[in-house]
Amino acid sequence: MIKKNQTLLLLTLFLLNFVNISTATQNRNVDIDRSSIPKNILIGSFSGGRSHLKPMLDIAAILIERGYNIVLLTTGKYESSSEYPSVKQVSLGPQITLRDLKEDVHKEFDHKGLAKLVEISVKLYNQTYEKYKNTAEEYNIDLFFCDYLINEACLDIAHALKKPVVGWTAALQIMDSKPYKSDPIGLLLSPFLTQLNDIRKQINVEPNQVTFGKVPKEVSLALVDTFFGFELPQSLPPNVQEIGPVISEEYSPLTPELSNFMNTHERVLYVAFGTIHFTTPENNNKILQSILEAINKNMIDGVIWALVQTSKDDFYPTLNLTDGSTIQTSSILNNEHPHIHIVKFAPQFAILNHTNTKLYFSHGGAGSTHESLYTGTPMLVLPFGADQMGNAQKLKIAGVALSLSIYTLDVNDIINKMDHLLNKIAMNHRR
Ligand SMILES: *[C@@H]1O[C@H](CO)[C@@H](O)[C@H](O)[C@H]1NC(C)=O
Ligand SMILES: *[C@@H]1O[C@H](CO)[C@@H](O)[C@H](O)[C@H]1NC(C)=O
Ligand SMILES: *[C@@H]1O[C@H](CO)[C@@H](O)[C@H](O)[C@H]1NC(C)=O
Repeated sequence: MIKKNQTLLLLTLFLLNFVNISTATQNRNVDIDRSSIPKNILIGSFSGGRSHLKPMLDIAAILIERGYNIVLLTTGKYESSSEYPSVKQVSLGPQITLRDLKEDVHKEFDHKGLAKLVEISVKLYNQTYEKYKNTAEEYNIDLFFCDYLINEACLDIAHALKKPVVGWTAALQIMDSKPYKSDPIGLLLSPFLTQLNDIRKQINVEPNQVTFGKVPKEVSLALVDTFFGFELPQSLPPNVQEIGPVISEEYSPLTPELSNFMNTHERVLYVAFGTIHFTTPENNNKILQSILEAINKNMIDGVIWALVQTSKDDFYPTLNLTDGSTIQTSSILNNEHPHIHIVKFAPQFAILNHTNTKLYFSHGGAGSTHESLYTGTPMLVLPFGADQMGNAQKLKIAGVALSLSIYTLDVNDIINKMDHLLNKIAMNHRR
């Protein structure tokens, strides 16, 4: 397990050796003055969001301790910046949410949503590049630490200014995809490359610096935040390093209310679909019905559901149980059921790390996957898009998860899979 100190050590070692790496492997002049610390480091992420920023900022926090200056350039407002008070944020504009992407996201949001996001990022390339350029000049940036997803402007400006760039992703297949890995993510990105290169030409940015699914030669070091043993075997170029999972040293504790719930329930199911995903009312009702039936069958005795992007209106008003009874969903959503605790946000790591949490019903995002593996919590995965389908597949191969489909969600199937995971997967050594 690589914790962040080791991650940082790795990063720092590479930072200190940048000149050698660059000249040895890339024949290009990287302008590094090693005599003066602090250096100015720009962290750039077009997509933003906690899952992209948190691990990068965890690394930044240690670099700050060591005297470096960090500027964060990202969309939206990074709400948790209070966790990293010395990181200065420059805004890349409003964050694009999935609800912005599709009117009918409820009906058919899936991995194609990512293609839409790529399209938008290409349309915004000009202004994104301009913001990177201005920020780099204003803060005299020495090193670029770029989220790799749809963030070409970050890599391009580093290249234009001849500065070293560290690429970052949790999805290895975005960095270096292999044809034998059946993951839809790479296919969605490539059609936009020609369009992107046309825009680059118009503003005199050297085209073809970045090809999706390949590590660009401009990247001095590419870090992949993953879990040992999680990825299927593949060869990697020498400048790609698997690190991680980056797990914080401190996580938000349980609220007194949650702590009370956790301590009075011995077999808890935790439900959460990350910070950006949500599904249809029909699916939400099926999930709610499944957890009610699972409680009635004594498979579990408690459920915590962190709704996050799911609104209470995203449920039908009633649902029918197999025993013929009809339930008002609002009563459950308003926490009138003694064994179901609905919250808007939850301190996820603290819940997963609690002995009484026996199963995590998840979307299978990278951060959640790492936390679940780290705490030894089996997963029932309902992937929505991005890297989640691939993650679900890998978790299943590893024997620690089963997966579902948003298109064919079925109450009996959910219950059977929960039963299997609760009874046959004894992965948690802590319990
Ligand atoms: C990008 O900027 C160039 C030069 O100002 C302009 O010709 C082009 O239309 C812009 N492209 C987009 C997609 O905004
Ligand atoms: C529940 O059952 C009632 C009576 O059988 C039916 O009218 C209603 O449509 C059902 N509701 C759902 C959500 O299936
Ligand atoms: C997770 O739980 C274990 C055992 O209960 C505890 O020792 C550890 O400190 C917890 N980890 C974190 C980061 O809270």
